[in-house]
Amino acid sequence: MDGNGRWAQRRGLPRSAGHRAGVRPVRATVEACGELGIRVLTLYAFSTENWKRPRPEVDLLMSLCVEVLDREVAELHTKGVRVRGIGRRDGLPAAVRAALKRAEERTAGNQGLQLVLALNYGGRQEVVDAARRLAREVQAGRLRPEDIDEDRLAASMDTAGLPEPDLLIRCGGEMRLSNFLLWESAYSELLVTPVHWPDFGRADLLAAVAEFQRRQRRFGGLGSTPGGALGGAGDPRT
Ligand code: FPP
Repeated sequence: MDGNGRWAQRRGLPRSAGHRAGVRPVRATVEACGELGIRVLTLYAFSTENWKRPRPEVDLLMSLCVEVLDREVAELHTKGVRVRGIGRRDGLPAAVRAALKRAEERTAGNQGLQLVLALNYGGRQEVVDAARRLAREVQAGRLRPEDIDEDRLAASMDTAGLPEPDLLIRCGGEMRLSNFLLWESAYSELLVTPVHWPDFGRADLLAAVAEFQRRQRRFGGLGSTPGGALGGAGDPRT
């Protein structure tokens, strides 16, 4: 969800106004994904590197998370959305951890869109944490090193059980992954849009999905698989 700061700057507003304006597209995107039948939407809300920002900005982002989770959870629940967090939870303020837990518990039984919130998330840190979990299993004698394969590692990640992302949309025009889902996005289709996140709307999502459908996915092979359905349908392991 990049470009909040630049959106504000262009309007002569403080960065905080950009982050506040970034809440509206969260709602619009969740609704549109639900209507399109997309199974999983992951939003990169706060990275492990975002702590480098000035304290007031970090505090605002944390309180926005609590505000959004608490305000929206009832409606998300009514719409059958299931909320799940990824990232290093113990590094988050207690209020954010509690709000996330409340949302996860309330929506745990829902079968609709899975809304994954990446909070204090970093792709490299996620791989490190998964390696530590596996090392502990080996140390305890429950796992042999030779039994560690891609599936076992994937099952040790925060994203265990989720399909790999078919489409990765980056707003704000920067051509980089910025530590987002590094393991999971090995074969994701990348789409960079210059639109700043506060301006990202339903039409932008539809355009991104249409572009995805035009992509030829080969997963390293020679066959061509049109983008087609979103939702792990193109998983190279199935
Ligand atoms: C990046 O823009 C945006 C963020 C780091 C924060 C996004 C978070 C929200 C909109 C809150 C939503 C909350 C939930 C729970 C989904 P930037 O500040 O890096 O923009 P810039 O590159 O223009 O400076």
